Amino acid sequence: MKRIAVIGAGTMGNGIAHVFAQYGFQVHLIDSQKAALEKAVATIEKNLDRQINKGLITEEDKSNTLSRIANFTSIELGVTAVDLVVEAATENSEIKKSIFKQMDQYAKPACILATNTSSISIAQLANVTNRPGKVIGMHFMNPVPVMKLVEIINGEKTDPETSSTIVELTKTIHKIPCVVKDAPGFIANRILMPMINEAIHAFSEGISDANTIDQIMKLGMAHPMGPLQLADYIGLDVCKNILDIMHEGFKNEKYAPCPLLVEMVNAGKLGVKSGEGFYKY
Ligand SMILES: NC(=O)c1ccc[n+]([C@@H]2O[C@H](COP(=O)([O-])OP(=O)(O)OC[C@H]3O[C@@H](n4cnc5c(N)ncnc54)[C@H](O)[C@@H]3O)[C@@H](O)[C@H]2O)c1
Repeated sequence: MKRIAVIGAGTMGNGIAHVFAQYGFQVHLIDSQKAALEKAVATIEKNLDRQINKGLITEEDKSNTLSRIANFTSIELGVTAVDLVVEAATENSEIKKSIFKQMDQYAKPACILATNTSSISIAQLANVTNRPGKVIGMHFMNPVPVMKLVEIINGEKTDPETSSTIVELTKTIHKIPCVVKDAPGFIANRILMPMINEAIHAFSEGISDANTIDQIMKLGMAHPMGPLQLADYIGLDVCKNILDIMHEGFKNEKYAPCPLLVEMVNAGKLGVKSGEGFYKY
């Protein structure tokens, strides 16, 4: 594989484009919003500067990386010549299904179609294409240039060859692939979200304040960030969304979002991005 496309130039898309370009791939970065593309390139530049300051890369690496990224506002033009598309658009199954139909229509038949979804079933997206064997989950972690894990999700119809190609590709961009089956929340969120939800229950019952709850998990479990602070970073709306999908998917009350989480999302307290969550920013 030499040329890849990334659809969605937001938080995750710019990071995914960054790492592929850094390790020598030609990247087509696609977003329906021109402003999102401009912001993504500025973010990539800033993150490359950060890597230079840490002594991880040189100025030359930075300019080579940037020279490998081309911007597109059209999916048709962006995906025609690529070997892999990683879809990282807004977490909404209707938006993603429409993008998968277009990817299937315009990408060459051998092209693998991956999604960075946090929670939408791979089978659901694969089924809108004529190549379900070439559809797979590639769940990067935020911030992408820093985090080593990529959760690889095999859908019901994903070909073993597609899976092994993506596992090997993940290693070439210096990430560590962990392969799982398609199930609500996959593994990362299935384990993380109930912990965050439980921390919110404890907070809402007044068992302790936010800072103490976070300190307990940081000091006691060696977590780099407490669950409430992490929820603020992920976005409380995103946490609620993923819990809703697991609640519905498993039909199990243990995944129901805590009423306080629902209240906070309804009140627009979404964490870092809105300026307030369990903490003020
Ligand atoms: N943010 C995280 O921490 C995180 C972590 C892991 C996975 N994810 C997943 O990654 C995906 C992207 O999340 P994000 O946080 O980067 O979102 P974001 O809102 O920052 O970016 C989404 C981008 O998609 C673009 N977009 C929407 N519809 C489009 C279309 N039809 N065609 C082209 N572009 C379109 C938007 O303009 C926007 O720039 C989601 O599936 C999310 O669940 C997010």
